[in-house]
Amino acid sequence: KAKIAVLISGAGTNMAALVYASRIGDCPYEVVLVASNDAQAPGLALAAAEGIATFAHPHKGMTREAHDAAMEDAVRQAGADYIVLAGYMRILSDDFVERWQGRMLNIHPSLLPLYKGLDTHARAIAAGDSHGGTSVHLVTPELDAGEVLAQVRVPIVTGDTPHSLAERVKLAEHQLYPRAVAEYVSRWRNPAWLLERLRERALALPETS
Ligand code: GAR
Repeated sequence: KAKIAVLISGAGTNMAALVYASRIGDCPYEVVLVASNDAQAPGLALAAAEGIATFAHPHKGMTREAHDAAMEDAVRQAGADYIVLAGYMRILSDDFVERWQGRMLNIHPSLLPLYKGLDTHARAIAAGDSHGGTSVHLVTPELDAGEVLAQVRVPIVTGDTPHSLAERVKLAEHQLYPRAVAEYVSRWRNPAWLLERLRERALALPETS
């Protein structure tokens, strides 16, 4: 099984969805660590109660690089192959992201490329959009700009507030994220993915005649 470290900052409901999905059937990943920049994050207590290793390292009073290094150490010690961000509300330093590129996923509560950054639900409602949603994407140094792996659209209904929309989007996230992570860590077994990589390789080869 692929080993994943989940990074959280808050409630950790997506982390919980990842953990419970990992215990059903032959899920191709297992959660080996839940780490947070906030020792009080409710998700940490839940992970501990579930018997999962936890790590907390507050970011106050230290540089971004030093904090990222502490998180990365914990991830490596746990033996994780992938980092899965689930409501981790810190921007990561470029070096850290580059070392994990292709092995770090995030879930963002909008239909990317719409509404990168914060307050996604308020912005979708204010724009009069018919739908909000959520996107699972690869993490790259540019914020919320990596390749989108999967999305779910969620309708915005009359009377919605950012809070009510966020709750509805979270329901969709809890379905989407475990499935997207499972598919991603098993991508080697997907013929379409393999063909695409072979095609890329072939196109990158120098012309021979
Ligand atoms: C989720 O909706 C996630 O998409 C969002 O924070 C929430 C975390 O909820 N992430 C971001 O906004 C990242 N920029 P949770 O702690 O209950 O999983």
